Amino acid sequence: MKIGLIFGTRPEAIKVAPVYHELKNNGINVKAVVTGQHKEMLYQVLNLFGITPDYDLQIMKQGQGLSELTGRLIIKLDEIVKKEKFDYILVQGDTTSVLAGALVGFYNQIPVGHIEAGLRTGNIYSPFPEEANRKLVGNITSIHFAPTDVNVENLLKENYPKDKILKVGNTVIDALYWVKRNKSEDIEAIKRKYGVENKKYILITMHRRENWGKPMEETLKAVRDYLEKHDDLYLVFPMHLNPLVREVAHKVLDTFERKILIEPLEYLEFIAIMDGAHYIMTDSGGVQEEAPSLGKPTLVLRDTTERPEAIEAGTAKLVGTKYEDVIKYMELLEGELYEKMSKANNPYGDGKTSERIRKYLLEKNKC
Ligand code: UD1
Ligand code: UDP
Repeated sequence: MKIGLIFGTRPEAIKVAPVYHELKNNGINVKAVVTGQHKEMLYQVLNLFGITPDYDLQIMKQGQGLSELTGRLIIKLDEIVKKEKFDYILVQGDTTSVLAGALVGFYNQIPVGHIEAGLRTGNIYSPFPEEANRKLVGNITSIHFAPTDVNVENLLKENYPKDKILKVGNTVIDALYWVKRNKSEDIEAIKRKYGVENKKYILITMHRRENWGKPMEETLKAVRDYLEKHDDLYLVFPMHLNPLVREVAHKVLDTFERKILIEPLEYLEFIAIMDGAHYIMTDSGGVQEEAPSLGKPTLVLRDTTERPEAIEAGTAKLVGTKYEDVIKYMELLEGELYEKMSKANNPYGDGKTSERIRKYLLEKNKC
């Protein structure tokens, strides 16, 4: 029996890496089918986790449009799936690679397991196109591996059968633990490498499509203007490789002094930089899940989130991207709110998510 694990971007690679190792270490025949939607950012993760892809479609083009990307992925993945005759296909999350992988599984009548199922904002344009992707994938999924109770509830509301939904936690926590177990690099050495060892800094990441252009510009201007008045604070921004993100970052921040604009960090380094941050500002999905595990207050630079657990747990605030709102929340974090939000609380899992997924697949005699 054979499993095809289809993925293609940085966050998917981080979140499927523990599943890949869990299956492989237990003697299951698993093939890593990499779409190559990302290139440099993907290989940073594959190298760290020691994964050699069985296939790499090398699909990435600069400024790739959604329709063309989806079309090319479906055609190329179909060839592999037909050749390999997988018994099961696993996809993770909500990217274009996920949608294409699930669709090709469905067209070839191969059962699809959806890891990180049931996340919803209720608005198909936010995040765009991820909310639609995960809903579409849900429709053609044989088993929904849901991270939290909230995600299970979302799926039940959409009338998916109870016995096809399994609450397992989020593999992002498995990935964090895996790195802590297997990599003993000195966190302090990483901080020195980026010149932040003695600095109080805010870590920011931004890349979402709905934030391209004005929302990102407005947010970064607010952050810059706030920091101009707080000369003990620095800004660290590992910039996504998307040229549209980098253009705005440079435009707004180049003249500001206390900033450290850097290339996307290798995962272990990013964890170290998160660990040293005063707090985090982000529109990333994965970072919203990791920050509570590290006890870092997080300002979410989006209008909606499919991850309400951290907000309910009190470690994150939904801020949006408007100038006044960004400033308002940064000012709020000067007060006692900071202490409250720093209380570590991780609602996303116990590090055993991959094991639960493996057990389900074995129990159901799928492999
Ligand atoms: C994609 C996912 C998004 C996920 C994000 C993670 C979709 C629709 N979007 O975002 O859900 O949160 O990845 O980062 O699937 N680039 C490189 N090298 C890389 C990666 C990207 O040069 O290793 C540049 C290229 O110019 C590329 C651009 O970044 O065209 C954007 O990449 P793309 O996969 O289209 O990213 P997003 O859709 O923004
Ligand atoms: N990350 C990383 N290096 C960076 C920025 C982020 O390794 O410079 C990791 C981060 O820890 C998280 C994941 O990448 O696990 C999030 O990826 P991204 O924000 O690109 O995608 P999203 O989670 O929003 O889909």
